[in-house]
Amino acid sequence: MDREPAEVATRAGAGLQHDSAAKHVSGAAVYIDDMPELPGLLHMALGLSAHAHAKIVSLDLKKVHAAPGVVAVFTARDIPGRNDVGPVIHDDPIFADGLVQYAGQSLFAVAAQTVELARAAARLAVIVYEDLPAALTIEQARALGLELEKPQRMSRGDSAAALKSAKHRLHGRLEIGGQDHFYLEGQVAMALPQEDRDVQIFSSTQHPSELQHLVADMLGVPSNAVTVEVRRMGGAFGGKETQAALPATVTALAASKLRRPVKFCMDRDDDMLLTGKRHDFVIDYDCGFDDDGRIEGVEFVLASRCGYSTDLSLAINDRAMFHSDNCYFLPHVSIVSHRYRTNTQSNTAFRGFGGPQGMMGVERVIDAIALKLGKDALAVRKVNLYGPAPRNITPYHQAVEDNIAPDIIAALEAKADYAGRRAAIAAFNAANAVLKRGLALTPVKFGISFTTTHLNQAGALVHVYADGSVHLNHGGTEMGQGLFTKVAQMVAEEFQIEMAAVKITATTTAKVPNTSATAASAGSDLNGMAALAAARTIKERLIALAAKRFSCTPENIVFRDGRVHGGTASLSFGELARAAHLARISLSSTGFYKTPKIHYSRAEHRGRPFYYYAYGAAVSEVAIDTLTGENRVLRVDLIHDVGRSINPALDLGQIEGGFVQGMGWLTSEELWFDASGKLRTHAPSTYKIPAASDRPPVFNMELWKGENREETVHRSKAVGEPPLMLAISVFSALTDAVASVADHKIMPHLDAPATPERILLAVEKLRPVL
Ligand code: MTE
Ligand code: HPA
Ligand code: MOS
Repeated sequence: MDREPAEVATRAGAGLQHDSAAKHVSGAAVYIDDMPELPGLLHMALGLSAHAHAKIVSLDLKKVHAAPGVVAVFTARDIPGRNDVGPVIHDDPIFADGLVQYAGQSLFAVAAQTVELARAAARLAVIVYEDLPAALTIEQARALGLELEKPQRMSRGDSAAALKSAKHRLHGRLEIGGQDHFYLEGQVAMALPQEDRDVQIFSSTQHPSELQHLVADMLGVPSNAVTVEVRRMGGAFGGKETQAALPATVTALAASKLRRPVKFCMDRDDDMLLTGKRHDFVIDYDCGFDDDGRIEGVEFVLASRCGYSTDLSLAINDRAMFHSDNCYFLPHVSIVSHRYRTNTQSNTAFRGFGGPQGMMGVERVIDAIALKLGKDALAVRKVNLYGPAPRNITPYHQAVEDNIAPDIIAALEAKADYAGRRAAIAAFNAANAVLKRGLALTPVKFGISFTTTHLNQAGALVHVYADGSVHLNHGGTEMGQGLFTKVAQMVAEEFQIEMAAVKITATTTAKVPNTSATAASAGSDLNGMAALAAARTIKERLIALAAKRFSCTPENIVFRDGRVHGGTASLSFGELARAAHLARISLSSTGFYKTPKIHYSRAEHRGRPFYYYAYGAAVSEVAIDTLTGENRVLRVDLIHDVGRSINPALDLGQIEGGFVQGMGWLTSEELWFDASGKLRTHAPSTYKIPAASDRPPVFNMELWKGENREETVHRSKAVGEPPLMLAISVFSALTDAVASVADHKIMPHLDAPATPERILLAVEKLRPVL
């Protein structure tokens, strides 16, 4: 498309800053806890279970009621409708009722005059538990056969026969830890009672429509009595796709009962104790391959810790299966997935949604093959990549039609001087007994679309006011990723007006109904298209009017740089809007979009679940100290595919943030439960997310030049989640560094996260303590 440079600088394709950037850094951006408090506002806190699995013999709340400042206390008995926030299966009580299923589960809520009084009162309950046997780990649940649903199996070809006939064979196990979302803004909601029994809720949620429906069911009122609004979240990362429901429902309950405004801002420790996290996994693999390391057959058995309820675990574990191939053609493959029910927090969506865990399995297989054959792991990666038919069919039978992984890898290998640095690292390791370096290049192929097909829809609402200014609303939510900016860019582009003329407004169920969560990285794909559809409807009406005014055909009307031209005549966009209003033409429209081409049979695990794939690759170089296990990421080079970027600045921000978050998952963030099932890492003092100083000192990021072959908005690609998985290169590089102590002859026993402790243990297994 030809565009003048001046236009490019202001609209679609421009690296504009986030619409709230200045507000974010100055502190002026309003989050829910910053909103003005109405008179009479009450604050809430929850009483949490101290036991992992127990009958509640008695729950004595007299002291809680009597505590200073307490106005009301709520338990399961006070809920007029359904005591449940389960998004798919109704197994997620708001308040545990007679039975607790994890340490940290909510039992009751207190509404008090201040936050401090509410939190203090919540600790005064006298609870008598009768303990039941608790399954805390994957292995405990496996031994007891506690599964959320029957094991799922995805397969193609005859893996058993391929394993038998392969020249080489190896099997092994990888354990992968979970991850807390650690959004800067914790879970929070504020509810205001409205006329009749209506309630208005401000929630930090990725999924306003679901909260609307859950609150309505909880109160026993229709959906039209509940409005949910969110202007922005201070980070979500999947942790607010379902987990925002608890504060939203308890504040709505209290507001509805007490007829007073109510706010619940979770304490960080409570937030970490209460809410679900990334699923931890155990992956067993059995692989057969040839002398080149080409995989002939592979069997994966995935097992994950889902926690006490279903939440989104079925779809998350499906996505782990979908990404067990990553970029590699697996000629004969079987993937079996077990979803274990445990007495821990109900694990939930987290950036990548199971995909990262699935990919870790096959990347470990490749590292193990390389060590067994004495080859460079990159060479083994390359011989296994998807290629032309017939080497282009995924384990779920979708054909990979847009494979650019080989091109990205080749470009990155050259750019990052992989071969030169491999030689330099070998020399360094030969010369140093204590410090060892490692290097790895790993690719990413991530499927874009909700794998639950019906979720791939979106709506928008656009108003053009008579002065030509625009009000933009859509079903997507803003969590820092820049969705609102991108969608506004598309609307400004369509009308050919300045970004400043497009007002970005808060997401609300009152304007766009029945939306999907902003998730699966599909926010801009879905909402961008819906907003464009709305804008195009209005534009068509304006074109018809302008053609009449300028006495030309509609085809000759051109929107350019704030003006609408027809032949030699023109009007400003505002003048035309005014004329349309006077001519009694509607300047408001909804827009709707649904993703084409996708379909999936979950019963057979077969179909085309993904509209397209997003690709990328990264090379990471690390150093470890073999006496302490300490480690650093020294340098990262990456190339990532965002199709034709709507906003390169925001896209690079997503790539950098995703990578560093992935690094944290695989290196320093460790969830630690004690023997009774209590999470002991529930604050930043014990749970280590990457700090600014952990950003790799050399970090070269590049956007792949290309466009989406599918007809997405601006031919762009989703970017929110895929870059997180580029951090698997860090884990592989650490594995490589550890393997160097045994001359790359033995596969290290290194699980994730590769904390200093685990690295040290892995080193010591490979060589005697110095
Ligand atoms: N970026 C920021 N800054 N904050 C977030 O919470 N969430 C991630 C990703 N990037 C997140 C983020 C997740 S899990 C998803 S699914 C996508 O953003 C959602 O937004 P999108 O669909 O608009 O990309
Ligand atoms: N990704 C993120 N969230 C989801 C998905 C998905 O594929 N399916 C249902 N919720
Ligand atoms: Mo993202 S895990 O799909 O919210």
